[in-house]
Amino acid sequence: MKWEIKQFNEVSSTNTLARTMPIGTVVMAEAQTAGRGRYGRVWQSPIGNLYASFVFPNTDKLQKYLSFMTGLALAESLPEFDVHLKWPNDVLLDGKKLAGVLLETVEDKIIVGIGVNLVSSPTKNVLYPTTHLGGLLSPIALVKRLIIQYDAVLSILEKKGFEKIKQRWLDLAQNVGEIISVHLPDQELVGIFKGINNDGALILKTTQKTYKIMAGDVFLI
Ligand code: BTN
Repeated sequence: MKWEIKQFNEVSSTNTLARTMPIGTVVMAEAQTAGRGRYGRVWQSPIGNLYASFVFPNTDKLQKYLSFMTGLALAESLPEFDVHLKWPNDVLLDGKKLAGVLLETVEDKIIVGIGVNLVSSPTKNVLYPTTHLGGLLSPIALVKRLIIQYDAVLSILEKKGFEKIKQRWLDLAQNVGEIISVHLPDQELVGIFKGINNDGALILKTTQKTYKIMAGDVFLI
């Protein structure tokens, strides 16, 4: 895909601004005053980190796979770091959260919001331990790498299908085969992380049964 990068100083949320932009735009901001995380959580957004939103077309295929493709593209944009993936698309470094992804569908667009801790990471009010890259990469350098890696994963999807994306995702995933805990809105499940299926659902084997989970928070234990 061809991308046009638009850079702003401070915005409320790049995901909100991206709604008004054409498909193929990458909205970047130096800081956000109302950065959002998954499940309506706050994404603290001080100057120095990456806040970017990619405007994709809303197609069936992307609707299904873009979440995994984004995790993979992000991880593959950071080859000099020993990063891993946590379902569905968090990027971890040393077991701590380095980046988060928020997908929002608005009519004919899928907005992929990406936050990467480049120079700092929050310590207060966090659900999960966090880390940052110590300023070794600039926001624009990372966005340029991401554009290249998105192209690579999109062409894998075209040529080889989701199976191949899934394989690469699993190669980078943290804790496959180990015990994890998954927080769902109404319960917590503990079991063995068996992998993901072709719909991208997380497969969790508890002592009772095997669950296919489409949404939830994973904790590594
Ligand atoms: C999460 O892990 O909960 C997802 C965090 C996503 C944060 C990014 S920063 C750029 C974009 N704009 C937002 O308001 N949120 C996303």
